[in-house]
Amino acid sequence: MTANILDGHAHAQILIDKIATELDRLPRAPGLAVVLVGCDPASQIYVQSKVRMAQRLGLRGEVERLADDASEADLLARIAALNAREDIDGILVQLPLPRHIDALRVMAAVDPAKDVDGLHALNAGRLFHGDDALVPCTPLGCLRLIKSIRPDLTGAHAVVIGSSNIVGKPMAALLLAEQATVTQVHIHTRDIERICRQADVLVSAVGKAGLVRGDWIKRDAIVIDVGTTRVAQADGGYAVRGDVSFDEAVEIASAITPVPRGVGPMTIACLMENTVKAAKARAARLQ
Ligand code: GUN
Repeated sequence: MTANILDGHAHAQILIDKIATELDRLPRAPGLAVVLVGCDPASQIYVQSKVRMAQRLGLRGEVERLADDASEADLLARIAALNAREDIDGILVQLPLPRHIDALRVMAAVDPAKDVDGLHALNAGRLFHGDDALVPCTPLGCLRLIKSIRPDLTGAHAVVIGSSNIVGKPMAALLLAEQATVTQVHIHTRDIERICRQADVLVSAVGKAGLVRGDWIKRDAIVIDVGTTRVAQADGGYAVRGDVSFDEAVEIASAITPVPRGVGPMTIACLMENTVKAAKARAARLQ
């Protein structure tokens, strides 16, 4: 038996259709601003996809561009202006930022009520407390995919590879909130393979193509691959590869996300969901 391949596009479309029905109940179209510093090619593609999806859905989507050499003060001033705008409900600062800018200071500058990336310490803290929060879009999308296969995660052993603020840590918090037993492994963890082999749910968010081999995976595990690494091809182009050796894993897992068309579309759909959630909460406060 080969694994059920989790089609991120199909799952994302279901979520997008659901969000579309909620828009009618809002006093105006929610506004999303995506801030892009510099011209990293991958970031430009991601930002374009986010704003296009927002516009397709009928949200007001806009990109705020700053040059590579923009100062941190320039960026903070731009964020302050977006925080003050009544027509903007969601603000996302695309990562990574140039090295001369402190990402944590930037995340702290976003109004937590407009923090649709869920990266402000207040939202991160609320997530860890089990309180209502804006939750980072990629782990939220991963959880939705996992629950489409296994709605009740009580007592499941979930292993998360990676401990970033944007994926690994919030992923672990979300799984813990679902009553899973969570192990977080990272670059300094010894014997990662042995730990992964115990996982009923395995999420890899490292960015190292092919890291997770078939023999790291427990039979019938759910495997979620967040990695996207550009690998050069003989023809001069590149292919995008996940963290998981897909051809090996598909023979062992019960369900697996492909790369591309796995987690990526869910990240964007969850960003739309967070933007509508933020807009609804602001509208309720202003009533
Ligand atoms: N870069 C890659 N993924 C993301 C994301 O989900 N949010 C932000 N802000 N930057 C990213």
